[in-house]
Amino acid sequence: MEIDKIKEKLKGKLKNKRYIHTLGVAKEARRLALIYGADADKAYLAGLLHDCAKGYSIDEQISMSKEYGVELDDNLLNSPPVIHGFLGFEIAKREYGISDIEILNAIRYHTVGRAGMTVLEKIVYIADLTEENRDFDGVEELRHSVDKDLDRTLILCLKQQFVVQGKRENTIHPNMVYMWNDLLINSEKE
Ligand SMILES: [Fe+2]
Ligand SMILES: [Fe+2]
Repeated sequence: MEIDKIKEKLKGKLKNKRYIHTLGVAKEARRLALIYGADADKAYLAGLLHDCAKGYSIDEQISMSKEYGVELDDNLLNSPPVIHGFLGFEIAKREYGISDIEILNAIRYHTVGRAGMTVLEKIVYIADLTEENRDFDGVEELRHSVDKDLDRTLILCLKQQFVVQGKRENTIHPNMVYMWNDLLINSEKE
């Protein structure tokens, strides 16, 4: 599917605010790809489609996950906002004709990450938070770091997210813990 068609389809599926966010993530992901030597076109597409499953209600997402063979374990069912990453993989493939596994995985892991993330996956994860329309406590800290060090920025993202989830007494998806440990063990310390 051509990029303009993808945009048109997404615009029809997502609320306007979400669509604007999606364009912001695509733009930021492409910018980061150029800094960190990832494929800029793949980054743009992954950014564009990262929230493609968000046009559906949680109930619809759960039934579509079953239909498309997305495994919903207790960790996912306990934090439904995370499901759209895993389901997004299938929707991007089936409804938007994306076959590139790097793009699909960047969509799949944008909500909870995983250990051993690719540069493209890291970029989309971070761009989701640092794109220009985002406004939350701590976003400036991430923006200051993002052009300098990708892994360091991911550590900062997780620090913030653990505090927020902890305050709400939400469950933490194990992938986030695996990502955290992997970054601390394997990334170069400052
Ligand atoms: Fe998302
Ligand atoms: Fe997003």
